[in-house]
Amino acid sequence: MSYIEPWSKKHKKVAGSAVYSLSNSFVEPLTNEQLIELSLERGDQQIVDEFRHHSLAYTPSGGSLDLRQVIANFYGPDISADNIVVFPGGQVALQTAAAAVLDNKSHAIVFSPGYQSVQQAPVQATSQITTIQRRSVDHWQINPQWVEAAIQDNTRYIVINEPYNPAGTLMSAQLQQQLKDIAQKNGIFLLSDEVYRFLEHDANDRLPAMADLYAKGLSLCTLSKPWGGCGITIGWIALQDIELKQKLIDVQYFGTACPARSSEIQAIMTLRASDIILQEKMRIIHHNLTLLDQFIEDYSDLFEWVRPTAGAVAFVKFKGPLTSEQLGQQLAESGISIKPAYVFMANTKGYEHYFRIGYGEQNMPQALSALIHFVEENKDNWR
Ligand SMILES: Cc1ncc(COP(=O)(O)O)c(C=O)c1O
Repeated sequence: MSYIEPWSKKHKKVAGSAVYSLSNSFVEPLTNEQLIELSLERGDQQIVDEFRHHSLAYTPSGGSLDLRQVIANFYGPDISADNIVVFPGGQVALQTAAAAVLDNKSHAIVFSPGYQSVQQAPVQATSQITTIQRRSVDHWQINPQWVEAAIQDNTRYIVINEPYNPAGTLMSAQLQQQLKDIAQKNGIFLLSDEVYRFLEHDANDRLPAMADLYAKGLSLCTLSKPWGGCGITIGWIALQDIELKQKLIDVQYFGTACPARSSEIQAIMTLRASDIILQEKMRIIHHNLTLLDQFIEDYSDLFEWVRPTAGAVAFVKFKGPLTSEQLGQQLAESGISIKPAYVFMANTKGYEHYFRIGYGEQNMPQALSALIHFVEENKDNWR
């Protein structure tokens, strides 16, 4: 794997010590104590006992059966525990899948701006890539004709991310079907990074999982985002293709012997309490989004967005005289952290004024108040 510099490195250097964070994409993190309480409340003493007494032997490559069974419940009839591969987090899953599908003779299609690993895992897997730009004028939606036009004889892999980081938008089921049809017609694996699935602001908008929809589809999910379990470091891929599943396990074998059993048990506890946890996370998201709506309305001459419909992030355009890099620097000096466009793309040309704002955390209202204070102090200079 070749060395690629993380785009977020600069952001961490500039805003790493900020007190007010508006830059995370996860929802309010859980505590282990909450997980134990939730387990006991539903009478699940067995899992709590196991957390205390489990063996520290290796777990099976690809994840233990009990965790894979709980995960499979989130999918339809074509996905059972045998169709799940567990990874130590979503990023590892992205890297492993690209390495399993691609080589230096193959070609992949990715989209930008976006999460760096979604775009660059195929590059690290030595593949050629075509990067298709997503644009606010299209409401950040993918144009299927551009995807068709990008397909080459050696295209093996398309990677999409819906709900979309950084804009928090969601494609329609019809567009998802169109992309699946294009992939199917050309025999291409389609990985759908669904790490923000289950955080749709209206649950009726939830898309089918790609693993349910398409025989060569891969659905990527992680505990980090919807359930606030970043520190559990458990992600997974659901897929129907058993041959590729074995390749995923084989590729991962050289990186990690196995997921930690303590993490697996925490993941089981989390997923068994999924409904209660998601309800609470959505309450925070809806509340914070109302505040953001007001912010965008109050300062509409300075900020605009495509209003998000899923997840806990929005990609906002600053209409004042600074790039988002300059704005991010000045905000960091006031203790406020946002994510400028350079965190989501190698070349920010045309996107210089965009930045991502996160609103999934409990203390977001305080961070937003700090931002409003900063805007009030500077608005006359900007206008
Ligand atoms: C789109 C997307 N995919 C994958 C990940 C990685 O997830 P994990 O924290 O489980 O490694 C992230 C994290 O921010 C993300 O935004």
